[in-house]
Amino acid sequence: MAVQNSRIFTVSPWEKLDNFINDTQYSSVFLLCDANTSMHCLPYFKEKMPGLNFEVTTIPAGELIKNLETCQYIWTQWLEAGIDRNSLVICLGGGVVSDIGGFCASSIIRGVDCIYVPTSLMAMADASIGGKTGINFNLFKNQVGTFTMPKAIVIDVHFLKTLPERQLKNGYVEIIKHSLIQSPPYFQDLTNLSWPLQESELLEYMKKSIRTKTDIIEQDFTEIGIRKSLNFGHTIGHAIESFFLEKDLDILHGEAVAAGIICESYISSVLFKWRPHTFESIQTFMKPFKGTLRLSEADYPEVVAKMELDKKRKNRNVYFSLLDAPGKPKTDQKVPDDLILKSLEYYD
Ligand SMILES: NC(=O)c1ccc[n+]([C@@H]2O[C@H](COP(=O)([O-])OP(=O)(O)OC[C@H]3O[C@@H](n4cnc5c(N)ncnc54)[C@H](O)[C@@H]3O)[C@@H](O)[C@H]2O)c1
Ligand SMILES: [Zn+2]
Repeated sequence: MAVQNSRIFTVSPWEKLDNFINDTQYSSVFLLCDANTSMHCLPYFKEKMPGLNFEVTTIPAGELIKNLETCQYIWTQWLEAGIDRNSLVICLGGGVVSDIGGFCASSIIRGVDCIYVPTSLMAMADASIGGKTGINFNLFKNQVGTFTMPKAIVIDVHFLKTLPERQLKNGYVEIIKHSLIQSPPYFQDLTNLSWPLQESELLEYMKKSIRTKTDIIEQDFTEIGIRKSLNFGHTIGHAIESFFLEKDLDILHGEAVAAGIICESYISSVLFKWRPHTFESIQTFMKPFKGTLRLSEADYPEVVAKMELDKKRKNRNVYFSLLDAPGKPKTDQKVPDDLILKSLEYYD
């Protein structure tokens, strides 16, 4: 499948967005936001795009609404308001809004143009990049969706001013992940910064993160090869995330992935014979990002069982995306169960 690039507006983003919309001459514009971005981000968007007329659709906030029922609501709103093939959809929000809005836009009347205006760090650095849209279907997370690139992505870190600190850390974990996949000096740079980051630092490293993900995706849009490296930290991360979520305990994706990065770095260090210091520095750096929930030894088998379940659901084996060394991803790795269990000891 050919990769179609999105324009990513990071410098003078609003001017560029205005020019893009004027040049394309859309018949109508539909903006999707959630309850929080409607309150915190829509007023700023209107201030920056004063001449733009658009219909607003607002959905509730949170992962739980990323489902078919919400799609039906969105599609109904758009169809009743007269959406046509020459309309534009703008998604103003975090990864939930871009995932579901991108999916609804790619499927309504066989697809209309879509632009993402990400407002969370997770969406800026990760979710809006790479063209994966989707929703959760029954127990299958993100398993109904499309590969559709948005026409443009508008990055303005001003939105992060209202993003809660916990959500900021959540998104930063994916930036750290990109640094570990990309190169040791990039990771080193991040460890030299102190939290919370200055706005200029955030912008610099987010741009670097976007470049890293974009480069990988240009090589392998449909995830048959190198794109799998972006799953580093996610095999164990997802298992930890669903373990806690099924107990109704509050864990964010990035917090679970931070723990997953620690465990999968440990596995990598054993399989590929890292120097002990390399693993220790990753472990120390990741700890403040992994949230506060504890995992006891008695929980380990259930967490491993979650990986098995995931394997069955996806009808394939559990393969890890590990690091031969920081900056050198190694995908499709099988890991013995006893090593997975041992790695969970490093969760705490
Ligand atoms: N498509 C992909 O490649 C990809 C990659 C990573 C994550 N994702 C998806 O992204 C989602 C997670 O993204 P997320 O962390 O942005 O979640 P989210 O969209 O739920 O946003 C997190 C919370 O922050 C609020 N929020 C967003 N921007 C705000 C702002 N500027 N001020 C105040 N509040 C704000 C939201 O309303 C929400 O309550 C998941 O569904 C995940 O599956 C997709
Ligand atoms: Zn992730």
